[in-house]
Amino acid sequence: MPVGAAGKIGGMEFSGFDARGYRTVDVRTGYAEWVGKYEDTVEDVMDLALLERLVVPEWTSVVRAADLGCGTGRTGQWLRDQGVLAIDGVDVTPEMLARARERGVHARLVEGDVTATGLDAEAYDLVISSLVDEHLADLGPFYREAWRIAAPQATFVLVAFHPHFIMTSGMPTHFTNDAGESVAITTNVHLISDHVAAALAAGWRLAELQEGLIDDAWLAVKPKWARYRDHPISAAYVWRKGA
Ligand SMILES: C[S@@+](CC[C@H](N)C(=O)[O-])C[C@H]1O[C@@H](n2cnc3c(N)ncnc32)[C@H](O)[C@@H]1O
Repeated sequence: MPVGAAGKIGGMEFSGFDARGYRTVDVRTGYAEWVGKYEDTVEDVMDLALLERLVVPEWTSVVRAADLGCGTGRTGQWLRDQGVLAIDGVDVTPEMLARARERGVHARLVEGDVTATGLDAEAYDLVISSLVDEHLADLGPFYREAWRIAAPQATFVLVAFHPHFIMTSGMPTHFTNDAGESVAITTNVHLISDHVAAALAAGWRLAELQEGLIDDAWLAVKPKWARYRDHPISAAYVWRKGA
């Protein structure tokens, strides 16, 4: 999607693709309710399997990482398992941060927005964000904030829902609440070209792009998704600051 008149990048309305019609709540409300069951429902094959496939980031040489939209610390835990020792996390939902605090893999946890983190400028040689961007209406401020906190030569790894899957399935990010109701959390559709436009405008250059398909590993955890076999469901972008 081109940069709009107001300078907004991405954030196509999800409602035009919605095949579920679930009641929709905002990010904080949704994750505050989902937190207890979040880790039982999010599938590692969505994001962690893609991180495993990346060839560019040298995880073991990362000195300091910023984990934007850190949630309960899944992404941070994965980084720790790769040998990344200093990780700061930012998230807008206090209940998710409380779980991350219990987990204890982050050096520092900050309640804040991924577009205005308050973290130090040029302080991180890795910025990472997994499964967050679909909640943002505008990718521009997100890529600019990642750039601001990234050290010279830093890498920005962003794992996202693939726009094709949101469009073709008509499924928003959602969870089942304690009453058994399916509840959607505000979802936006960002085309791959939206990511490229926002990243290039912020100064990033693309180093690697991986797409995750519905494959045997997926069908083992979601047998009902056989009709989506070979459809792309996620994407991992690796951006570089500097040459
Ligand atoms: C699907 S979870 C991902 C958490 C973690 N990265 C993972 O992979 O498990 C999305 C997280 O992003 C957070 N989030 C969404 N929009 C945000 C924003 N604008 N600023 C900060 N956090 C945000 C939510 O509170 C939630 O914890």
